[in-house]
Amino acid sequence: MALLAVKERIAALRSEIERHNYRYYVLDEPVIPDAEYDKLFRELQTLESNHPELLTPDSPTLRVGSAPLKSFAEVAHRTPMLSLNNAFSEEDVRAFDARIREALDIATVEYAVELKFDGLAINLSYRHGQFVQGATRGDGNTGEDVTENLRTVRAIPLRLRDAAGVELIADIEVRGEVLMYTRDFEKLNQQQRAQGEKEFVNPRNAAAGSLRQLDSRVTASRRLSFFAYGIGLCEGVTLPGLHEQQMAFLASWGMPVAVFHRVVSGVEGLLEFYREIGGQRASLPFAIDGVVYKVNSIALQQRLGFIARAPRFAIAHKFPAEEAMTSLLDIDVQVGRTGVLTPVARLAPVFVGGVTVTNATLHNEDEMRRKDVRIGDTVIVRRAGDVIPEVAGVVLERRPVDAREFVMPLVCPVCGSHVTREADEAAWRCTGGLFCPAQRKQALLHFASRRAMNIDGLGDKLVEQLVDAELVSTPADLYKLGMNAITRLARMGEKSALNLLDAIEKSRHTTLARFIFALGIRNVGETTAKDLAQRFGSLDSLLTADTERLQQVRDVGPVVAQSMVDFFAEEHNRNVIEQLRSQGVCWDEHDPEPDKIGVLTGKTFVLTGTLASLAREQAKAVLEALGAKVSGSVSKKTDYVVAGLESGSKLERARELGVAVLDENEFLLLIEGL
Ligand code: IVH
Repeated sequence: MALLAVKERIAALRSEIERHNYRYYVLDEPVIPDAEYDKLFRELQTLESNHPELLTPDSPTLRVGSAPLKSFAEVAHRTPMLSLNNAFSEEDVRAFDARIREALDIATVEYAVELKFDGLAINLSYRHGQFVQGATRGDGNTGEDVTENLRTVRAIPLRLRDAAGVELIADIEVRGEVLMYTRDFEKLNQQQRAQGEKEFVNPRNAAAGSLRQLDSRVTASRRLSFFAYGIGLCEGVTLPGLHEQQMAFLASWGMPVAVFHRVVSGVEGLLEFYREIGGQRASLPFAIDGVVYKVNSIALQQRLGFIARAPRFAIAHKFPAEEAMTSLLDIDVQVGRTGVLTPVARLAPVFVGGVTVTNATLHNEDEMRRKDVRIGDTVIVRRAGDVIPEVAGVVLERRPVDAREFVMPLVCPVCGSHVTREADEAAWRCTGGLFCPAQRKQALLHFASRRAMNIDGLGDKLVEQLVDAELVSTPADLYKLGMNAITRLARMGEKSALNLLDAIEKSRHTTLARFIFALGIRNVGETTAKDLAQRFGSLDSLLTADTERLQQVRDVGPVVAQSMVDFFAEEHNRNVIEQLRSQGVCWDEHDPEPDKIGVLTGKTFVLTGTLASLAREQAKAVLEALGAKVSGSVSKKTDYVVAGLESGSKLERARELGVAVLDENEFLLLIEGL
């Protein structure tokens, strides 16, 4: 090939490979199979190694990392990298808006609102549209040169190009955040585990640890991501006058900009965004620690200026921290409803996730060993959303010399029965069954709980007393209780006793769904119980169903079906059910639903990501009406995965398993055609 032709081919390959990188790493919508991509990549590598003089820093082949550095060079930022002031309450936000309205003397301010990414601030410098340097924030004036590491981050464009391949010729500094998606964090920790390496406590530490590697080949082996949120400097092209437009400008030149942002007006718009994102926080594919409000007009931003190290025109509205540090005072073992022994950390009280936490789960023995948690340690406690608080990790630097390892008991700490652990399970279980008072108590509490039989007032303390006094050992015994027995309990006056009897009486008339849920069958949650009740209509038709029939119910797979069959095969359980019925516990029944036959009968779908044109619930309803089963997780049995925007691990899993993936348009075409 003539040199000119080689040069052209190299340019075309680079452009095409980067376009695929963008589709894959930013949009999560690859358009060619991996093998095709690899072919292009190898062709470029070969041409470059035959013509080293044509290798330039914007080549995607350099994304695999290069020889290790001795240390990072310092970089003086051309414009300082500032921080944001924080708002922790609605009042703080109202005060922020009031200050701005006053300073600008306008009635209603237009704001650009976006996510506060929980990663590391980075400055990317592009010269003539080519990525030349990347630096950490450092002290705001001087950061570290991590160019080689950032080059390995596939989401960061090495050259600014629009979708048509046109190159932007400008000098521009892009500000944004490097982070690690939760799924990539989990994968990394799995790997660390497999290699006997220390795990990272959270995605931010993992991102920081990966970016601050002197050997960029290590960084290349970790999947980091990037989102832009601002522009530092810009020469050679005129920027639009609104922050929102500037973000759209960056996105149009291939910069990753998160989809969750919008323009709102006035303080109510800010608070609404906060609430909305707060509700979605747990289901986002990456960690955020708040939202950011910015005056949308750049001219107004300039008028407002800065105070000390932070802009006056922007503020971060923080969510309650999901992690906090505290000391681990002791470890206890709790016995759950199904006999599982759970080690629980007793903690010095700490405020996390919006509540004060004194206990956190250590999950099981393996987890506790893996995290190397010891009594006396300083630990990081995490409470995300509504999930129960857990010990996320240990701060080893603070381990006292007398920290002690905890040993799991060899017998059930409650009933003394021996404990077993099955080969494929992480949990030790008490073999005492309902002989074990702990299991009995938990089973009763579950039976009486609000979403089950809803026996008002039958809480921890009372169940404890009833079981310890041997007045109650199965749920059926509750319906045999009389005034005399109850009033003999400590602190039980006549009035409370009457209230309890009244609540028990009221619970006699229930629904089949509640009853099924109340039985506490392993793996049968509230939704499954509802679906089962709907499908089978009566307890007897459920009792006689085999695993195959059970699996016709949505979200019931082989495991759930088997635990149901096992539960109903147990004589003790049958007995309790019969006793409950003869005690007058009842519900309305109907005929079983006929097997649904639709065009999609027998097909299993998984929905993931956000669909633009319809809510997930709607999509699910449509599919079910057509006879399809909609499941929550991807397996070999999945026929189709419908992937909307920001699809994460499920999409990846589908690709791994070779399951057909439909994008929104294809999905709409499919259902319209039926
Ligand atoms: S704007 C001049 N926007 O939060 C304003 N910062 O304390 C500069 N951050 O160091 C920051 N998400 O790393 C901005 N959407 C966002 C952000 C964001 C995360 C980080 C950033 C900065 C820190 C501010």
